[in-house]
Amino acid sequence: MKSNNTINNLKTIESKTQIITNEQIKEAKVIVIKPIGYPFTATILETPQLEVENKELFELYAQDQWNGYIISEGQYIFDQKILPDYAFKIINAHPNNSKITNNTSILLIENSEKTKNTYQKIETKLKLNDVIGQEQAKIKCKIIIKYLENPEKFNQWAPKNILFYGTPGTGKTMLAKALSNEIKTPLYLVKATNLIGDHVGDGARQIHELFEIATQKTPSIIFIDEIDAIALDRTYQSLRGDVSEVVNALLTEMDGIKTNQGLVTIAATNNPQLLDYAIRSRFEEEIQFITPNEKEREQILKNNIKTMPLPVTINPEKLAKMTKGMSGRDLKEKILKTALHKAISEDNIEITKKHIDYALKNYNNNKNEPKGMFA
Ligand SMILES: Nc1ncnc2c1ncn2[C@@H]1O[C@H](COP(=O)(O)OP(=O)(O)OP(=O)(O)O)[C@@H](O)[C@H]1O
Ligand SMILES: [Mg+2]
Repeated sequence: MKSNNTINNLKTIESKTQIITNEQIKEAKVIVIKPIGYPFTATILETPQLEVENKELFELYAQDQWNGYIISEGQYIFDQKILPDYAFKIINAHPNNSKITNNTSILLIENSEKTKNTYQKIETKLKLNDVIGQEQAKIKCKIIIKYLENPEKFNQWAPKNILFYGTPGTGKTMLAKALSNEIKTPLYLVKATNLIGDHVGDGARQIHELFEIATQKTPSIIFIDEIDAIALDRTYQSLRGDVSEVVNALLTEMDGIKTNQGLVTIAATNNPQLLDYAIRSRFEEEIQFITPNEKEREQILKNNIKTMPLPVTINPEKLAKMTKGMSGRDLKEKILKTALHKAISEDNIEITKKHIDYALKNYNNNKNEPKGMFA
């Protein structure tokens, strides 16, 4: 019977996947996985579309549950905890046939509904000054603005390829969006994980298309987010054709940008040390994004509080002192938003210390106990 065969095949795959390590197996540096759904069709439940709100937390969760698994490309790996037996396909593993550890970078390709459009054209009202801190990056953006306003003037000294790197949630994407708004140029935002398609050649073709469209609409900015998903160091690049094809396509396009063309490529990563050297060397400047200091946290809090639908009674200066180490995203999403929702759920007309304390406690608990990252 077909379904029994399927079950047997899956069991084999799963047991192969789960063989516990012997010491010679290399550590997986990076793996890229794609949500597939439940393996059996005879289910009364619909396969849920997986959305991951917090990638960091998902990574911790995935490392924790798959620690010690030996994986290779094309295999399936199954969730054991929140969505038991939900399948993920291993699209890339670097190196192949390696072991997942707590250091393995686990990247998830978003579901196919979202990835139909490889790139998004972003429009926003953000200004450079809305990004608090990150002064070095803002100076670079001002230079890019001057260049895009007047490409001829720069001659062979034009800014072309810049790398933003650093802690998640510190404003890399926000700054790229603000930059494109300031100069009213289109920003073509592409997530590198979306470039790894089901068919070899997809990603490379999409890179060429993207650069072609952006070139026709200059001045313009291409923003490649999560570039480490494709532009991995060659020692981690798999034998599978498409990742190296995507890297080659990117190299060709980055080299092909003509001086004074009015096109700037910005890429962002949390792990610059994993990048392919040839790609990394194409970036004329690498700019680090760091978590905000106390004054910057205070400013981020103030700016966000202004836009909240309920007044906040706690002093932002005091709150800045209580949130050491948090990123801008943490402050907004984990503290202010959680406190707001708590206040609303209690029918309160203002956000008080009690709600902020609740959010802080939640934040600290979640840091120690990875769970609840599925939307
Ligand atoms: N420096 C900052 N100033 C003001 N707000 C910030 C700053 N950093 C982060 N934020 C807030 O956090 C949100 C998320 O930041 P953003 O997406 O730019 O982070 P990122 O560095 O691109 O993170 P990742 O590496 O995960 O992609 C922003 O939309 C903004 O609300
Ligand atoms: Mg980002």
